[in-house]
Amino acid sequence: MKINSFQEYEEAYKKSVESPEDFWGEIAANNFEWRKPWRKVLNWNFSEPKIEWFVGGKLNITENCLDRHVKDKPNQPAIIWEPNDPNEESVTLTYRQLFERVCRFANVLKRNGVKKGDRVCIYMPMIPELSIAVLACARIGAIHSVVFGGFSASSIADRINDSQCVAVVTTDGAVRGNKAIPMKDTVDDAMIGCPSVKKVIVATRTRTAVSMIKGRDVWWEEEEKHVTSDCPAEEMDSEDPLFILYTSGSTGKPKGVVQTCGGYMVYAAYTFLNVFQYKAGMVHFCTADIGWITGHSYIVYGPLATGAISVLFEGVPTYPDAGRFWDIVEKHKVNILYTAPTAIRSLMGFGLEYVEGKDLSSLKVLGSVGEPINEEAWQWYSKNIGKDKCPVVDTWWQTETGGIMISALAGITPLKPAWASLPLPGVQMMLVDENGNEILGGDVSGNLCIKFPWPSILRTTWGDHERCRTNYFSAYTNLYFTGDGAMRDENGFYRITGRVDDVLNVSGHRIGTAEVENAINMHTGVVESAIVGYPHDIKGQGIYAYVICESFVHDEDLTRRDILATVSRVIGPIAKPDKIQFVTGLPKTRSGKIMRRILRKIAEGETSNLGDISTLLDPTVVEDIKNGAEALR
Ligand code: WT7
Repeated sequence: MKINSFQEYEEAYKKSVESPEDFWGEIAANNFEWRKPWRKVLNWNFSEPKIEWFVGGKLNITENCLDRHVKDKPNQPAIIWEPNDPNEESVTLTYRQLFERVCRFANVLKRNGVKKGDRVCIYMPMIPELSIAVLACARIGAIHSVVFGGFSASSIADRINDSQCVAVVTTDGAVRGNKAIPMKDTVDDAMIGCPSVKKVIVATRTRTAVSMIKGRDVWWEEEEKHVTSDCPAEEMDSEDPLFILYTSGSTGKPKGVVQTCGGYMVYAAYTFLNVFQYKAGMVHFCTADIGWITGHSYIVYGPLATGAISVLFEGVPTYPDAGRFWDIVEKHKVNILYTAPTAIRSLMGFGLEYVEGKDLSSLKVLGSVGEPINEEAWQWYSKNIGKDKCPVVDTWWQTETGGIMISALAGITPLKPAWASLPLPGVQMMLVDENGNEILGGDVSGNLCIKFPWPSILRTTWGDHERCRTNYFSAYTNLYFTGDGAMRDENGFYRITGRVDDVLNVSGHRIGTAEVENAINMHTGVVESAIVGYPHDIKGQGIYAYVICESFVHDEDLTRRDILATVSRVIGPIAKPDKIQFVTGLPKTRSGKIMRRILRKIAEGETSNLGDISTLLDPTVVEDIKNGAEALR
């Protein structure tokens, strides 16, 4: 499964295209434990779409992540937990300890009525219990739906209702930096509109006072006393759903991306091993939150399926100061660091004094994920953190792809700063123009599509297969469309330029413009709004809101604050606009479509060349918006 040289990469790539079933069949058979072999490696068509990998195969992903390592190396660390407060003890769970805790909590889930196929919402901070809850669901065949801790009660409720979760796992509270976060209170607010939820299991983190409703709410620790740590794994079909993870699209409602047991396991482990060139005993630190796909694949499943040591960090990069990542690298002798450009740019801004004097000599590989990395950040990361000795791999992928698709393999394939570089074996990328014609050759750009399935391609969007088809498989016939634009050079290297749809990437978080508009429009007095992205030094993209109110706004600052509070309440603080401009009209075509192109230019401050505005219903609004934007700057 491990690629050890550029030549091996080229051979693997060739084989993956010429005989994909042999390629993936061998990887799956030789590196994982299956209860029952598959009848066929792959069935697929992109028109329905219907995609099945390892058809008829039976397995449980936790036997691959836990049981087999408990046999081989029970005392090796699986998880090293670093708490928010550096003065609190870190916690190491060996594979045996993690196994026992997962089995025990799996029995707690069962005791609380959770069965195979049921959906369980997990809303927790980055503590070991989060990984344990995820794996415990997988152990009994329940489908987890992790909701990032920064989402509001109403976002939690929408996600719970969409997939009809029967239980929620949460904590009393959380701490991030110097902020205390009331997790259970937020869940309680969500519960007002979630009749499908029968049980809320609450782990203790802060021991803040929380309401506990009789018959519904139970304490994690109490429940554990009533069960054993003996829990045989449920036998799952390769194509049984493993989890749902909600992500934003161009429409208002987040989509529940569905990943299945067999293909996801194979691809997460394969990419983890190869991109980071993981060797036994290395310490891997992915700074993402498990609430996002990066955490699912490269904190939990990829590393554990590989028998790796995975660091789980509760806090933020700037607490207690901007040297925290480097302290963690030094303390736990981290070998692989996987983080986001937004974090790198933010830490760059604090200056080198936070890096100096930290022993970073354990580092071997650096990774980047979530958004395009600019050359300056890439160089800073490579030079000051990697000391020019560590390859920096820029990894492009999506929730829908389940694992890394385009990336250098550390130390194996060539690097090109700020370029994601080459597709992994099994990944058949392609660029197309607006008409769906393939753009061949080098030094070209176009819309990024994929022409052949890989094992962790999304199978559906929960409860709405048609939405999956129209979103990803209908723009271009027989292709998966990523929603991204990209360039390709003469060597076949890719550089992702960003979304070509109405989706923003703010600090590596995907935010749908329609979702934010809907939230703003819920605010009293707001008539209409339009959201666009604009370049932001640290976040990559900032959120710019143009808002029309019913009547003249007397106190703009106060109204802005109210709108921000509304967005926080409806979606969560991560979706709060960076700038709000009050306008009296929006540039619309005669058919009523907002011309976002113009709004984007104004938000970027490029007002001199707005292009053709003659097709607008009322071209005079543009002048007003320009003047208002000037005043806001
Ligand atoms: C979108 C997917 C993949 C895990 C984190 C985000 C953007 C992601 C890169 C990269 C340029 C990137 C794309 C993609 N993106 N990685 N290395 N270079 N852009 O997952 O929330 O599903 O977002 O993030 O626009 O479509 P996600």
